[in-house]
Amino acid sequence: MIEGNPSYTAIHVAATRAAHNRFDKAPHLLDDQPALSLLGEEHQDLIDGSGDDAHWVLLENRLFIPLRARWVEDRLARAYESGLRQYIILGAGLDSFAFRQPDGFDDLSIIEIDHPSTQRWKRKRIEALRWKIPANLSFTECDFEQTSMIDALNDSAFDENQPAFISWMGVTYYLERPVTQAALRDLDAVLAPRSEVAFDYLRPYGDLAERYVELEKLSGEYLKKKGEPHVNKLHAADVGADVLAAGFTSVVLETEGTLREQYGDDLTGPIPLSERFGLAAAHK
Ligand SMILES: C[S@@+](CC[C@H](N)C(=O)[O-])C[C@H]1O[C@@H](n2cnc3c(N)ncnc32)[C@H](O)[C@@H]1O
Repeated sequence: MIEGNPSYTAIHVAATRAAHNRFDKAPHLLDDQPALSLLGEEHQDLIDGSGDDAHWVLLENRLFIPLRARWVEDRLARAYESGLRQYIILGAGLDSFAFRQPDGFDDLSIIEIDHPSTQRWKRKRIEALRWKIPANLSFTECDFEQTSMIDALNDSAFDENQPAFISWMGVTYYLERPVTQAALRDLDAVLAPRSEVAFDYLRPYGDLAERYVELEKLSGEYLKKKGEPHVNKLHAADVGADVLAAGFTSVVLETEGTLREQYGDDLTGPIPLSERFGLAAAHK
């Protein structure tokens, strides 16, 4: 992160979700129209840059980034059906769930926790757009490198007596592994039974197909310049081990096969499913 600037990658992934809406055929994995408005005119070029002639990795992102958001929101919907009423979005970026939440979700407390530089920028955008902040949405600033997860949650509207669904998407690879391990331990310590933590992680290049090799240098240098280098890449087995070592009772590690079982009809287009990312859900 570059102090004072919103996360570049938060803007980039929001543009990717907007590009999915613009360039891919309906039905869409996610209809993230608010992302378009939050991004504003100044970031339209990022959306345009993910068109059909974009670099293959941008196309893969155009499928995977909306897919991971849809995966989280499907899991949240199931948790809501079973009675859970707290949704905490760690490293929320331009996540727009609160502004397109389904009717009747007013009793779901939505807590966005993010780096001050990103959250202040987003709140200014919301003000500029004159959007009404939903009554069930609250914001808390936190730098996960400086503040423990427990302190961040204590600073927020979080109720430790109630189960919570945590979304932690697009964040773990920007934090050193000991930081994510400590965060998982903290979460396990404060979350009530029946809570769930859904997150994504990046796989090491050595685990991936040949086409990813060229990316290692290219994207490594680019992200360093943007102040958000990927510093933490994990094998699925290590993710599972970290979750269980933190104290969680079980973990779901999605594979290409399990994602195709859930979203097969949406994954039949020309864009391949990215191998770079893994999706995990930890349960208490
Ligand atoms: C790639 S964006 C993901 C945003 C959002 N979750 C999504 O999927 O659209 C990464 C997010 O992590 C946040 N972040 C990165 N480092 C952080 C830190 N040290 N403390 C708090 N948030 C951080 C950024 O502010 C940004 O919102």
